[in-house]
Amino acid sequence: LRKPRRLIVTGGAGFIGANVVHYWCQKYPGDRVVVLDALTYAGNRQTLAVLDDHPNFRFVKGDICDRPVIDALLHEEAIDTLVHFAAESHVDRSILGPDAFVRTNVVGSFTLLEAFRQHWQSADRPADYRFHHVSTDEVYGSLSHDDPAFTETTPYTPNSPYSASKAGSDHLVRAYHHTYGMPTTITNCSNNYGQYHFPEKLIPLMCINILMGKPLPVYGDGQNIRDWLYVGDHCSAIDAVLHSGTVGETYNVGGNNEVKNIDLVHMLCDLMNELAPDLPVRPAQELITYVKDRPGHDRRYAINSTKLQTELGWTPSVTVQQGLRLTVEWFLANEDWWKPLLSEEYQAYYRKVYA
Ligand code: NAD
Ligand code: DAU
Repeated sequence: LRKPRRLIVTGGAGFIGANVVHYWCQKYPGDRVVVLDALTYAGNRQTLAVLDDHPNFRFVKGDICDRPVIDALLHEEAIDTLVHFAAESHVDRSILGPDAFVRTNVVGSFTLLEAFRQHWQSADRPADYRFHHVSTDEVYGSLSHDDPAFTETTPYTPNSPYSASKAGSDHLVRAYHHTYGMPTTITNCSNNYGQYHFPEKLIPLMCINILMGKPLPVYGDGQNIRDWLYVGDHCSAIDAVLHSGTVGETYNVGGNNEVKNIDLVHMLCDLMNELAPDLPVRPAQELITYVKDRPGHDRRYAINSTKLQTELGWTPSVTVQQGLRLTVEWFLANEDWWKPLLSEEYQAYYRKVYA
């Protein structure tokens, strides 16, 4: 019989964290799930509102750099599992202002590690405690067209302030296992997409701009490649690693779905042309506009997730065609979720990036 777990999920009001919290509360209703989230511009309490009736769910607004808050939660909730999503996550924002990335991604991750180490050590180092760190394929750097996909042993070559700060946190997690024997795992995942994705990222931005009849800004020559993973498949990967992963190990997570940006934008336009009845501009392709490139723009990411597939039996459940259709349908049906996010702050950010 599976022993119920007691989890803290940091960043659980963000895109992937919220998807995992919904997945977990539904699949394991006997587990305690405490979300710790600072509700930055990217955090959205509304996304979790339906869980407020769930007897094992609790939301705490707090910062992962705030050690006393974390110590108190670990203790009073008798936490055995910490799943760490909280981060500054957007590459373009890291170029405009890297400070918050170093603070949250490096100092915040360090603060959590130290708090969890003390909590684990004072409980006599239980083997079934777990600190799981959610990271990115961007730490491995950029691939050229014919390079093999990233594996877990690819050397780190982060290129943006965002990926450098994530690399810093990955190294700290690895060191806590190596030095203290703390039971840690890490996943390095490719580009996610799906429900609750914040409007600043490529797929939601294109969906929303198509619906509003605004230009679709494609950086550079549009030939950059990303490896797209439906967020539901990321949830099942984290489930597999938390239940069956080996401590001290890293697992790559990817969908085997490499797509050029310009091709992805065309796929979204096609879906919108088919599914949205009242587009302001039709066909949506007419809105495609090439704009100046992102500084230091990584050319290609590709993830080899053989280790996760062969050792833990995980496989992605949807193709990129299926996942994009689900996502477009979701954005069409959930204007009430995304419209309020196009705030003054967001418009000011948008003007800076797309000036
Ligand atoms: P997101 O930006 O949508 O959400 C981040 C969440 O963290 C928000 O709810 C925010 O309020 C919270 N947060 C930020 N700073 C905080 C702080 N100091 N204290 C507490 N909470 C704070 O991010 P996401 O896209 O859901 O990414 C989640 C994690 O997954 C990140 O660690 C990211 O690096 C990683 N990741 C993301 C992707 C992707 O494609 N989105 C892919 C691979 C890995
Ligand atoms: O690879 C995993 C990473 O994926 C995560 O670690 C990050 O948190 C997440 O934000 C994402 O990073 P990217 O930079 O790849 O995602 P983004 O959606 O910002 O951009 C995807 C691609 O589309 C990238 O090549 C830049 C391009 N792009 C993006 C935007 C926002 C455009 O051409 N136009 C745009 O307006």
